[in-house]
Amino acid sequence: MSLIAIDEEKCKKDGICTRVCPVGIIEQVEEDAVPRMVQEGEELCIACGHCVAACPHGALDHYRMKSAECTPVEPEKLPGPDTVEHFLRSRRSVRTYKDRTVEKDRIENLIQSASHAPSGHNRQPVHWHVIHNRDRLDALISHVADWMRYMIAEQPEAARMMNMERVVAAHEAGIDTICRGAPHVILAHGLKQDQTSHAACIIAMAHLDLAAPSFGLGTCWAGFFNAAAMFWPPMKEDLALPGGHETYAAMMVGYPKYRYHRLPLRKTPEISWS
Ligand SMILES: Cc1cc2nc3c(=O)[nH]c(=O)nc-3n(C[C@H](O)[C@H](O)[C@H](O)COP(=O)(O)O)c2cc1C
Repeated sequence: MSLIAIDEEKCKKDGICTRVCPVGIIEQVEEDAVPRMVQEGEELCIACGHCVAACPHGALDHYRMKSAECTPVEPEKLPGPDTVEHFLRSRRSVRTYKDRTVEKDRIENLIQSASHAPSGHNRQPVHWHVIHNRDRLDALISHVADWMRYMIAEQPEAARMMNMERVVAAHEAGIDTICRGAPHVILAHGLKQDQTSHAACIIAMAHLDLAAPSFGLGTCWAGFFNAAAMFWPPMKEDLALPGGHETYAAMMVGYPKYRYHRLPLRKTPEISWS
């Protein structure tokens, strides 16, 4: 069975599918021939769907995605550079949240959006874990504080660089500077032995960060939480992710308490050319 099916009546033999395929497994043997899959192409296909998405005639179905199942691109919905620049510059790390639970379906929709992020070889290795329950989050934050106490004792230089003494003191005074009082934390995790997992988790989480405001949500990367999830055995044990999985990104999420009214300044990018 071929992975692709081409409707010979719709196909205009323009060869676009052969040229966009990233692994080169669609061929057109003659200019006026209908393209076909090369021998043993099935094993190389990464199911990226470019062949389906690039065909202007809707002539090609992939067994994992039929043309009719793939939403048409609506150019009028795509922002121009000014809008993109303003949007990217308006993204903020939110550190003050309303005391309000985010509905699970809203978080699911946000994760759905983020899950369209790119991944090496289109492996889509990212798994998501949502710490939705505030008591559960508090228990995990206590592990982060324990990890910091360990760091202060054993690696004082690194602990100093990250202001851990202040964070622990605040925690002991009942102020959450680890997760900023966010009601929820989302983790992206994946198989450690899959070399694409680490980058894919971070990229997908960056997409989630960018998508969040359109859902009315605020986010902030939870760096301390993520480090403890990676390096503090009691926290790893408590998280109980599937065997062989590592947490590669953690994000606080909640309804933001305040709006930002200006775009803060950043360093000018340092660019070299060759
Ligand atoms: C990997 C990473 C980890 C971070 N960890 C934390 C954190 O643990 N707590 C926090 O309040 N902010 C954290 N931040 C947010 C940064 O401090 C923030 O991105 C930076 O100050 C710039 O502000 P902006 O995101 O609003 O532009 C983290 C950001 C990144 C990219």
